[in-house]
Amino acid sequence: MAVMSVDLGGLPMKNPVTVASGTFAAGQEYADFVDVAKLGAVTTKGVSLHGWEGNDIPRIAETPSGMLNSIGLQNPGVEHLCAHEIPWLEGQGATIIVNVSGHSLEEYVAVIERLESAPVDAYEVNISCPNVDAGGMTFGCDCGQAGRVVSACRKATDRPLIVKLTPNVTDVTEIARAAEEAGADAISLINTLLGMAVDAKARKSVLARVVGGLSGPAVKPVALRMVWQCAKAVKLPILGMGGIASGEDAVEFMLAGATAVAVGTANFMNPRASLDVVEGIRAFCEAEGVEDVKELIGGLAC
Ligand code: FUM
Repeated sequence: MAVMSVDLGGLPMKNPVTVASGTFAAGQEYADFVDVAKLGAVTTKGVSLHGWEGNDIPRIAETPSGMLNSIGLQNPGVEHLCAHEIPWLEGQGATIIVNVSGHSLEEYVAVIERLESAPVDAYEVNISCPNVDAGGMTFGCDCGQAGRVVSACRKATDRPLIVKLTPNVTDVTEIARAAEEAGADAISLINTLLGMAVDAKARKSVLARVVGGLSGPAVKPVALRMVWQCAKAVKLPILGMGGIASGEDAVEFMLAGATAVAVGTANFMNPRASLDVVEGIRAFCEAEGVEDVKELIGGLAC
């Protein structure tokens, strides 16, 4: 059996697989299908200081080999997470990554400060959500803004800080470098690609907010390319994601330079997808004579 453990910027993971924020709630909804303790980590839906209602509906649309969402980071707020979700995850023995959101730099910091007394293993700083008018991607598209948010979050915690990057930029490596310089321990990518869907007969956009984030197998080649570019540009470990649905998909991301991977949209079609990916990586290692999964990281021959 291959050694499956990895270290993501100071976060020990028993295997390289987590779930993408926003596709797995905080795990309880998936309890009938997934023993969350068997995942490398559970990454929760983005949490803000107070609850957010999210965007108007429709805010989901199916697209060829993918889906669009414009949820708008709907969530019940950090107090709710601390009272109802984190204790459950801790009780299950899960490794916990909390995705942190905010409309302002101060809000990101306040969320982390509140979580410091909770049994959280790492933070994922969300500067990449394309569905909010303040915070999210508006911070992640600019090196200066990204650096300021990461540096403020860095001052608020010694826990591993993962910074989630948007693909909706000209050069993702510039933002990755800004995150590295500001003190990030790891980066995660990609968040969704900005897109839209049109209902021709109604002559209307499908989503109420018109644009939304594209995810699923359609984005995998873009995600792989950006992981590969970032792996060459920074020393930080990478949490790779974008259309991963099988062990072999995950191995492709690791070969491109990812230390760990996240399963996202696949959870909606197959609620066991994350565990299937863990087993798929293990099977790949066994079939290929890989003794330690870490051998795969950055192992692309080209
Ligand atoms: O709209 C949303 O809640 C999406 C969040 C994200 O992409 O980070």
